[in-house]
Amino acid sequence: MSGATLAPQDAAVATSIGDNSIASYDVEAVRRDFPILGQEVYGKPLVYLDNAASAQKPAVVIDSMRETMETYYSNVHRGLHRLSQLSTDAFEAARDKVAGFINAESSDEIVFLRGATEAINLVAFSYGRAFLKAGDEVLISEMEHHANIVPWQLLRDETGIVIKVVPIDDDGNLMLETYKELLSPKTKLVAMTHISNALGTIVPIKEVIRLAHAAGAKVLVDGCQAGPHMKIDVRDLDADFYCFSSHKVYGPTGIGVLYGKLDILNSMPPHHGGGEMIDRVTFEKTTYKEAPHRFEPGTPAIIEAIGFGAAVDYVKNLGQERIAAHEHGLMAYATERMSEIEGVRIIGQAQEKASIVSFVMDSAHAHDIGTIIDRAGVAVRAGHHCAQPLMARFEVSATARASFGLYNTRAEVDALVAALYKVKELLG
Ligand code: ALA
Repeated sequence: MSGATLAPQDAAVATSIGDNSIASYDVEAVRRDFPILGQEVYGKPLVYLDNAASAQKPAVVIDSMRETMETYYSNVHRGLHRLSQLSTDAFEAARDKVAGFINAESSDEIVFLRGATEAINLVAFSYGRAFLKAGDEVLISEMEHHANIVPWQLLRDETGIVIKVVPIDDDGNLMLETYKELLSPKTKLVAMTHISNALGTIVPIKEVIRLAHAAGAKVLVDGCQAGPHMKIDVRDLDADFYCFSSHKVYGPTGIGVLYGKLDILNSMPPHHGGGEMIDRVTFEKTTYKEAPHRFEPGTPAIIEAIGFGAAVDYVKNLGQERIAAHEHGLMAYATERMSEIEGVRIIGQAQEKASIVSFVMDSAHAHDIGTIIDRAGVAVRAGHHCAQPLMARFEVSATARASFGLYNTRAEVDALVAALYKVKELLG
């Protein structure tokens, strides 16, 4: 596809970083790893810029899942037979890979769940019900995804906890001074995003965690957008909980992870009951396994876990610093080019940003932008991005959002910009 052609600027950006390993980032080779990218839509090369919603899958992920189903698939942790052993080994190897990906101390700290949403709900309804009581405060930020707002509201309605919201400034930076003022002995939990899905803001999460701990609070980090964009080290961050979904780090849907410090996980009651999470069951009483299995009742997403493991291996092998540098170059270029278009306003210009560019246009509603540029082959998300309070903060009902991944090119930024000029031409 022509959109896949490495624009001269791509090489320029890479070499300007001044690091040989980054200079060798071969985006064309990366693109060849993703079978879906070579297609055309409406007769135009696909320009996939909706990575913050869900990323595409490299062949190694697809192959690992196919191989599982074609050669050794069976249920895990249950069978004595050969296939069950092989599947169990592959499933647990995936857990080890995810643990390594975020530098967890132990694979037992890795709970496989359906995704980050389920992970936050697990913390709210297991940890929250057990350890939070009426009047205890949970701090979230103004730029949270609904998945990190609604579970706390459900818990609030049940237990009487108080939710406090840390504001952001007009550029989308977290207001750290106000955060410090909001922290108090009443704060028992801080639940905050690492990178805003709608603005791209990178929150100074290590400092957020340090301050929370100094106030005696635990911290849950929503790392959904950090997983694909930066190296995560839960031990260096000292996060108590950290979650992200596989499908945004180039793995399959239907699986994600809750990391928790082992002593905290083992202090929490199970949230769902069923097979596999028990130690011993009688009609009178049941005792439970330790983490992670106590939180994984029923048959897990075996094939997806194996694909998830292949995905984090892929990202790790490509190099998270190199990916971040590549994506940063794309974002800087997109910001520069889009700022040249009269009537385009970028929402979110934080000091530290990941490769997400949210914007509105004077002449067109976000949905119109999304629809028109789709005809040029350019896929973006348009809407409230599951962050309605954040949209209200910026007094917009919706934005269009271009989110760049490890396979995007500067030529694709050019395609986006050309499509936006088309929107202007059509809608004024
Ligand atoms: N949370 C995903 C997004 O930001 C779905 O689009």
